[in-house]
Amino acid sequence: MNILPLRLTAAEVRRRGKRLLGPVDLTLGTGGVTVIVGPNGSGKTTLLRVMHGVERLSSGSANWAVPDRDAQARQAFVFQSPIMLRRSVAANLRYPLALHGVARADQDVAVTEWAAKIGLSDALTTPAPRLSGGERQKLALARALIGKPQVLFLDEPCASLDGAATLAIEGLLRDARDAGVRIVMATHDMGQARRLADDALFVLGGTIAEAASRDRFFDRPQHPALASFLNGDIVT
Ligand SMILES: Nc1ncnc2c1ncn2[C@@H]1O[C@H](COP(=O)(O)OP(=O)(O)OP(=O)(O)O)[C@@H](O)[C@H]1O
Ligand SMILES: [Mg+2]
Repeated sequence: MNILPLRLTAAEVRRRGKRLLGPVDLTLGTGGVTVIVGPNGSGKTTLLRVMHGVERLSSGSANWAVPDRDAQARQAFVFQSPIMLRRSVAANLRYPLALHGVARADQDVAVTEWAAKIGLSDALTTPAPRLSGGERQKLALARALIGKPQVLFLDEPCASLDGAATLAIEGLLRDARDAGVRIVMATHDMGQARRLADDALFVLGGTIAEAASRDRFFDRPQHPALASFLNGDIVT
């Protein structure tokens, strides 16, 4: 079942009389990595939450190609500071599979496979809260991907990680992309944005100021604020 495209139509989020997002019109088609960049407070997280269906719209609509229930089951979200079960690495990996009713023997195979992919084969019985930041973020990503989502949302997954941990996460994201997972990621790391993006969105003041393919976005930005932003100037 293909849950894409996702269509946002005049989507708006207002809270206490303040417009946090919108109006946003956006179609998320099949394939590739979309990177979301923009200043602090511009609305990136709110946009991701709207797409994932966990932020109530004040007006407009967000529609998947299939009913919401079916779409929900095939998407995952990785937060900046992932919430871990206070249990073992293995239990964390097993959790989404159990939730989806995967048979115990198949769970074992997937847990072993994913622990190896994230370099935690020797840490299966380690309590997740004892992992380093980078290990925890890799575990969060594995836990999101182990259920084979069609769409993966990530909100600054590498904030506060060092270069090596960041590259490890990027490798996992590339593998997922190559396996057909549609990825939408907010990041403040412009190097990472360039490395991973197939296309990119620039969010400013709650609206999408620019949406373009990678080369055009980074090399020939149209919006003056995006040009400044890419230049490292402070944009509000
Ligand atoms: N539940 C809420 N109630 C009121 N205001 C909110 C709520 N959630 C977010 N905001 C506000 O909405 C605006 C957009 O926030 P959002 O978190 O989407 O920005 P962001 O681009 O992700 O920022 P950052 O780069 O700092 O993560 C901000 O002004 C924020 O204070
Ligand atoms: Mg944010």
